[in-house]
Amino acid sequence: MNVHTNIPLKNYLSMKMGGTTRFMADVTTVDELSQVITNAKTKGIPFFILGSGSNVIARDDEYTGLIIRVRIPGFEIISEDYTTVTIKLGAGEIWDEVVAQTVDKGLIGIEAMSDIPSYCGAAPVQNIGAYGQEIADTLVSLEAYDTTANQVVTLTNEECKFTYRDSIFRTEAQGRYIITSITLQLYKAAPEPPFYKGVQDYFDEHNITIYTAKAIREAVIAIRHEKLPNPVEKPNSGSFFKNAIIEQWQLDELLQDYPDAPHYEMGDGRHKVPSGWLIEQCGFKGQLLHGMRVNPANALVLINESATGYLDLSLARTEITQAVQDRFRINIEQEPLEIA
Ligand code: EPU
Repeated sequence: MNVHTNIPLKNYLSMKMGGTTRFMADVTTVDELSQVITNAKTKGIPFFILGSGSNVIARDDEYTGLIIRVRIPGFEIISEDYTTVTIKLGAGEIWDEVVAQTVDKGLIGIEAMSDIPSYCGAAPVQNIGAYGQEIADTLVSLEAYDTTANQVVTLTNEECKFTYRDSIFRTEAQGRYIITSITLQLYKAAPEPPFYKGVQDYFDEHNITIYTAKAIREAVIAIRHEKLPNPVEKPNSGSFFKNAIIEQWQLDELLQDYPDAPHYEMGDGRHKVPSGWLIEQCGFKGQLLHGMRVNPANALVLINESATGYLDLSLARTEITQAVQDRFRINIEQEPLEIA
């Protein structure tokens, strides 16, 4: 295993922004991971686990720690019966390649999460989700290196405490566990309606009435290509804000002034309001704020068009969150994690 030094982070982050990292290492086995962590801890060097870099941003100054990229491979069917298939995946497997393979096998469970730029190990951290599915729906358990106990542990779905775009890996246990494998249970069945609105609209427009995992994958890829800018041409981190989760009284208040506001029930008495809509209502859609372009196709995505650095990004972020707060009294939160 090689440890590289003074690496420009912007080459590894889809927002194409950030200073250098003092150290960076790729690990391909649990033993290498354990060695590198033990070494960093002995020397008092902080570390940060980086997946595909599509949901992470960095500041302009040097990160004085070690960036670890977990590239542990593995695709193993560990059990199968008449209706289900359980698959164990190494943290270093590319998420969309796994989705493609499971769709080819006619399995359902993750097909709506096609085309998400992620590695399998990063997927549970923010409980990736799209078009009506989230990884919490299919994840049985995962293995992680516990940097406190210095051993590999198994965490059940429940222990990961998944909520909308969140888990213990971003909250109470941030930095403690490094995911080394995930185990998913998928189904041998045909997908059944109701489908997410955008997917159903696509099916209707294309006269698709035979629903298969492959049809959903193709629809999702087409929708994503239309709504989400390609980060290679237009640097971005996908949704820059989480959708807003609000209480019933806040929804009542919102609907009084904006009877057409889109909203979805969370199932726990709270409601999700698309932050893209809130931002659009504030007039930001398509605008250039401090070098950051509010994506004209979906205002939830910020494109780094000409920002001179992190300060520009933070000015744009404050301008947007403040305007949403002033107009709707709703607080919207950043989705990408920050290297620190
Ligand atoms: N909307 C607007 N204006 C906008 C954007 C959205 O009015 O500029 C409203 C529309 O009413 C639309 C609704 O918001 O019907 C939902 O929009 P969309 O289906 O495009 O999804 P989203 O809420 O903007 C979320 C995820 C995406 C995921 C899509 C599809 C979050 C933070 N984002 O976006 O995930 O692909 O749903 O399921 O939950 C990501 O996390 O990086 C990401 C791309």
